[in-house]
Amino acid sequence: MDARVNPGHDHMKAKRMSDIATLEAEILKGIAAASDEAALEAVRVSSLGKKGSVSELLATLGKMTPDERKAKGPLINGLKDKVNTAINARRDALKNSALDARLATESVDVTLPVRDSAAETGRIHPVSQVIDELTAIFADMGFAVAEGPDIETDDYNFTKLNFPEGHPAREMHDTFYFNPREDGSRLLLRTHTSPVQVRTMLKQKPPIRVIIPGRTYRSDSDQTHTPMFHQVEGLVIDKGSHLGHLKWILEEFCKAFFEVDQVKMRFRPSFFPFTEPSMEVDIQCRREKGEIRFGEGEDWLEILGCGMVHPNLLRNCGLDPDEYQGFAWGMGIDRIAMLKYGMPDLRPFFEADVRWLSHYGFRPLDFPTLAGGLSA
Ligand code: DAH
Repeated sequence: MDARVNPGHDHMKAKRMSDIATLEAEILKGIAAASDEAALEAVRVSSLGKKGSVSELLATLGKMTPDERKAKGPLINGLKDKVNTAINARRDALKNSALDARLATESVDVTLPVRDSAAETGRIHPVSQVIDELTAIFADMGFAVAEGPDIETDDYNFTKLNFPEGHPAREMHDTFYFNPREDGSRLLLRTHTSPVQVRTMLKQKPPIRVIIPGRTYRSDSDQTHTPMFHQVEGLVIDKGSHLGHLKWILEEFCKAFFEVDQVKMRFRPSFFPFTEPSMEVDIQCRREKGEIRFGEGEDWLEILGCGMVHPNLLRNCGLDPDEYQGFAWGMGIDRIAMLKYGMPDLRPFFEADVRWLSHYGFRPLDFPTLAGGLSA
């Protein structure tokens, strides 16, 4: 038995040795022939993969006698190492040649201009800029910002503001009304920011010092009127607030906003249902070749309405007019934006034309501050 087995065993041994050499030659040939990384991966799987030829050979080690293992182990492990090394080398070579091929076909024109980032190309709308500017100015004087809804009740937009039912002052507002509700009342698009005075007084105890920038709506359209426009309201309620305070605040505001050392202002008597007395304010200017300069000249330009808050309004908001008094003003934001930045027509403000915006808009990261300069 032994005599027959041993020669056979030796023969097997020799065959395995030559098998290993053949397998090695075959695999190395396959590696050399792999023309891309996918082909190389296929060779790796068929040799070193779970069911690969080299892995299967490695698995036979477990069934060998210790002596056999001693002889075969290094050979089979050596094969595995050689195949591994060859595959890695080939992979590097393929990667390099793939890169070389890309570099040979791709090109970059370094003389092309660099594309600007969003922060460079985006623009802030002049209305947003002006709201930021005036918020910075009034915040410096201790004013908070208050807001209210664009869709208002008739009560807040008119009645509580001391517009009696059927009073002609209501007609002057060219109001957009919604369809009547079941109870007959009609919501409307607020015609001014003044209803937020009511909302603020109903919600907050004096002392009150707020500005109210926001959208307003009237059925009106020409070079200086659009159906949607912007106002900023101011409201101060305290025990001793008076017209002197109002004048000072408005003058300081105009100097800061128009970035001039001096402004001459003119207060003319006027009428608003929610103020008594009521005034309109003009600032002195010079109009020259389509340009407007402030702080000089002989012309006057109307910029806002203002007055002492009417006692009826205070009462309508639950405040005692014998205890509290205050003043308010309302100013057109689009108007002062046009004046400050020399924009002759209001309509393009709302046409979303990117050419207009890139010309008149502001850089997004240039925040207006009093210390750093409003429009610098
Ligand atoms: N709400 C008025 C308007 O749109 C403007 C106005 C005038 C507001 C006088 C006020 C004020 O707060 O006191 O025509």
